[in-house]
Order: sequence, then structure tokens, then C-alpha cells
Amino acid sequence: MSQTILVTGGLGYIGSHTVVELMQQGYQVVIADNLSNAQPFIASRIAAITGTKPVWYKKNLCNIKAVRQLFANNRIDVVIHFAAHKSVAESVQQPLKYFSNNLQSLMNVLQVMQEAAVKPIVFSSSATVYGYPDVLPVTETAPFKPALSAYASTKQMGEELLQKICAAGSIQNISLRYFNPVGAHPSGLIGELPTGIPNNLLPYVTQTAAGKLKMLTVYGNDYDTPDGTCIRDYIHVVDLAKAHVKACSRLLNQQVPISFEVFNIGTGKGTSVLQMIQQFERVTGISLNYKIGKRRLGDAPAVYAGTEKANTILGWRAALSLSDMIASAWQWQLQLAK
Ligand code: UFG
Repeated sequence: MSQTILVTGGLGYIGSHTVVELMQQGYQVVIADNLSNAQPFIASRIAAITGTKPVWYKKNLCNIKAVRQLFANNRIDVVIHFAAHKSVAESVQQPLKYFSNNLQSLMNVLQVMQEAAVKPIVFSSSATVYGYPDVLPVTETAPFKPALSAYASTKQMGEELLQKICAAGSIQNISLRYFNPVGAHPSGLIGELPTGIPNNLLPYVTQTAAGKLKMLTVYGNDYDTPDGTCIRDYIHVVDLAKAHVKACSRLLNQQVPISFEVFNIGTGKGTSVLQMIQQFERVTGISLNYKIGKRRLGDAPAVYAGTEKANTILGWRAALSLSDMIASAWQWQLQLAK
């Protein structure tokens, strides 16, 4: 019998891509999503890609009774916990919303996992735990830096509470520290759904190119980087999704020598904001309307991943290029416009 993965936040951007990869690898999937930043039609899109309608429940994980119901009604072998608020900017404005939702839902899931004697969980962490890293590429041994937002705090605290609970023996965790997830599924059927004006670079670029937004502002060109703009490690969401499948199989096959492990999930390659714009123009043939503006508060000059641990121990490596990321993000933007 195939194993069942509970995917919280499974109708969201990274969650939906991961559900597709899991189903294509033969796993049973149960999705819990409160639709706070997702749409129910994504379940039909997943069905269109995989040929099977995923089981999904509308659940608020901050309500522990709802979590208990999920575990009572489904046999669950592993949890992948995506469900969380994720806007850095919003978390600075409304920190309590982030602390209360992101931590309460995680604690409820862990509490009910303990009650049900389910040990393995994959946690969505973030490169944001590193703050402004001192050494590049940043490896998993780099210390946490003061969190620059409540969002970043919830990722640091999430990892800390998982580490302590794992040490006590009842839970096994792999935390994946994502760098900058971008792009969409090659089918053009799932991708990131826009809510308001995007904060992130590539959605801003594609919406500007599509004429939805007037002009992109490059936040600063006076950083200590080769072209003066900030450098990030952009990772295709499909590659990122595949890292979760690897993490699940590692947990299920008892390959985890210690009960708490972290892995960076990035390409290991840095791309500057200007390089991203140039590559977008090359891939799409569209000339982008942009200007150079002031620095954005809190941006680190450069962040990119050391990926050796993920490559060698998790057995995962990013396969898709920056052109693939841009082409799929642009295809998704065009189909959204329809
Ligand atoms: N940028 C612009 N103009 C824009 C938007 C972004 O120049 O309109 C620049 C930013 O200044 C930054 C780069 O593009 O230099 C990337 O910015 P994003 O907002 O796309 O990404 P961040 O690196 O700031 O943040 C992302 C995720 C966070 C996550 C973090 C982890 O959005 O959720 O990576 O490092 F925490």
C-alpha cells in the first residue's frame, strides 16, 4: 500500500507543485488548506495534471480539533507543513498575525502528530533565517542572525521548536531552507496566484511586462556587488517541490541518522536584479520598463546557497535553469491574463 502524506497548505504555490510531484511518484496525498492564500480550483488543476483528484479539506490548523479530525479520518505517514503566512512586508506591519498563525498551526500539528504517534515531518523553512550572511555561499552551519521581520522570526522559532521536540524523541524533522522560489509548472496549469501588488521580483517583472503594472523599480544599484544590484539564488518551484519528495522518502526509509536535519534548497548560483531583467528580456524578447530607485529597507546585498549538503546527503540537485524559471513564470502570467 502506498504511503500517505498530509500536505498542509497544499493548494498554495509551493504546496500545489509538491502535491503534483508526490502524486506522480505514487504517494497518496491528503491536503489541508484554509484558503487564506489559495483557491479551491487549484485542486482541479492538480487533477488535470496528475489524472487523479486529490483529497482535500478546508481546515484551519490553528484549531486543534480540526487537526485531530484530519488525523482521525486519514491514515497519515508523513506531514509536509507548508501552511503559513509568507509576506515579509506584511509581517513587519502585522507581526502578531504571523506569530500567532505560523507558530500555533505548527504546534497544533506537532501536538496531534505526537498523539497519533506519527513521527516524520518536513518543515518549510527559509534562507531568511540567515539574515545578512557573513560568508557566501551560505551553508547550513552558518548561525541564525537577528531576524529582520516577524516572518523570519517564525521560521527561526519553528526550527528551534522542532529541534527541541525532535531531541525529546517523538518527532523526526527535515527542515528545508528555501532560497528564492520562482517559476511555475510546465503545464501552465498551476503557479503563484497574485494577491495585490507583488513584493517579489519575478512576479513584479512579469506583471510589468504584461502591462498590469507600469514600471519596475530596481531597489538600489549602489550595493557592493559586481553591477551594484542585489544578488539572490532563484530556484525553480518544480525543483523545490522535488526536494520535498526526496525529504519524504529519506524520512520514510529511515535514512535519517539524527532526528533533526536542515538542508539549503537553492541552485548555488547568484543572480543580480539587473541580470534577471536582462535574462527576462532575452528569454521573452520583451523590453522591460524599469528604473533604478532607492534601496529597500532590510535587503541583504547578496544571498546564495551552499548546496553540497543537499546534493550529497539528500541526493537532490536543482536541474532547471534561470531561463526555465523565467519562461515558465511568463507562460503562467500569460495564461492568468486569459
Ligand atoms: N527587487 C527589486 N524590485 C522589486 C522587487 C524586488 O529590485 O520590485 C529586488 C529586491 O530588492 C531584492 C531582489 O529583488 O534584491 C529579490 O527580492 P524578493 O522580494 O523577490 O526576494 P527576497 O530575497 O527579498 O525575499 C525572498 C522571499 C522571502 C524569503 C527570502 C529568503 O520573498 O519570503 O527570499 O531569503 F524569506
